[in-house]
Amino acid sequence: MKEKVIPYGRQYITDDDINAVVATLKSDYLTQGPKILEFEQAFARHVGATYAVAVANGTAALHLCAIALDVQAGQKVITTPITFAASANCIRYCGGEVVFGDIDPETYLLDIQSIKRLLEAAPRNTYQGIIPVDFAGRAVNLEAYKTLADEYGLWLIEDACHAPGGYFIDSKGEKQFCGNGRFADLAIFSFHPVKHIAAGEGGMITTNDEKLYQKLLTLRTHGITKDERLYQNNISLAGGRDSYPNWYMEMQELGYNYRLTDFQAALGISQLKRANEGLKRRRAIAAVYDKMFKNSPFIKGQSGLVEGHAYHLYILEVQDRLGLYNYLREHKIFAQIHYIPCHLMPYYQQFGWKEGDRPHAESYYRHCISLPMYPTLTDEEQRFVISTIQDYFNG
Ligand SMILES: Cc1ncc(COP(=O)(O)O)c(C=O)c1O
Repeated sequence: MKEKVIPYGRQYITDDDINAVVATLKSDYLTQGPKILEFEQAFARHVGATYAVAVANGTAALHLCAIALDVQAGQKVITTPITFAASANCIRYCGGEVVFGDIDPETYLLDIQSIKRLLEAAPRNTYQGIIPVDFAGRAVNLEAYKTLADEYGLWLIEDACHAPGGYFIDSKGEKQFCGNGRFADLAIFSFHPVKHIAAGEGGMITTNDEKLYQKLLTLRTHGITKDERLYQNNISLAGGRDSYPNWYMEMQELGYNYRLTDFQAALGISQLKRANEGLKRRRAIAAVYDKMFKNSPFIKGQSGLVEGHAYHLYILEVQDRLGLYNYLREHKIFAQIHYIPCHLMPYYQQFGWKEGDRPHAESYYRHCISLPMYPTLTDEEQRFVISTIQDYFNG
């Protein structure tokens, strides 16, 4: 055990996954083939959304969402500082201005009260939208955000990269799964190896809005459409006589090549079949951490056991975080820190953000540490992680 590194997260690849990829590599299509639609449909079913669009990665998904919602230069969009930079960067790609709210110190999620204060303090139409993040796998209460968004005429993009299979309980007592499109206009996911479903790289956008769905399909592939019903040029200009020629296509807006390959989609489909099993294991690991660290004097806060949490990460807040981090590394346990607050990144400081602006996020960052959390973490490895943490604090 001592020789083996225990990372904070890792992919789980089975023979079935490998066979699925090999079969696609031997097929006629490496990209733009049938596996994409199959993956999209299976994923949409998995999260309970009507439409899904597979893309190259989660960052591309965010970028396309920002374009589809027409983010323009100078427009203000709100997100959390405790997230991966891409949640904010997508707004900058469109020239928009990112406004960071603060987090709730209990849930680590964007604090809706801090957002209400921001909205109340500004003239109407100052903000265009909000990007709440299901950080660490804990589902945001999007019902509450939808009420707020409607009041102020804002759109919502749910960054659900950490939370496929996660849910919150709505005001009627019903489960609302992350990315189901009931409250947010668009939701996005990532298939990076540390995520629940790994495709090497990869991303997905889900929505219940048909117009946005059609727009995303075009934006994903250079702004080109092959849908005859949408053509703007006439048949003669297209080079046909009575109908559009078979080769014809139209680029109608500026899009990108943000496509996923078919062999990645094949891996995604295969992984998706085990997603519920992986989630169950993550929750079991969380239950053990919860039990072992609850009421420990050296723990300031922890992810805890929360219904609907998808546990991409299990986080402790501790005193002397640096000491613990280094001690774990000495024992080949590679914990990680999620995240350095985005507003304190030098890139965002150039827009005036500075230390002290978001006190809850900054205090959280000084103490947080993400423990190993992935389906193939064994009970023995988890016991070793726990006992090493206890040894550090108990001396
Ligand atoms: C919360 C969050 N949003 C967006 C992304 C971007 O996803 P990708 O790495 O697939 O571009 C990530 C991935 O790390 C993430 O954790």
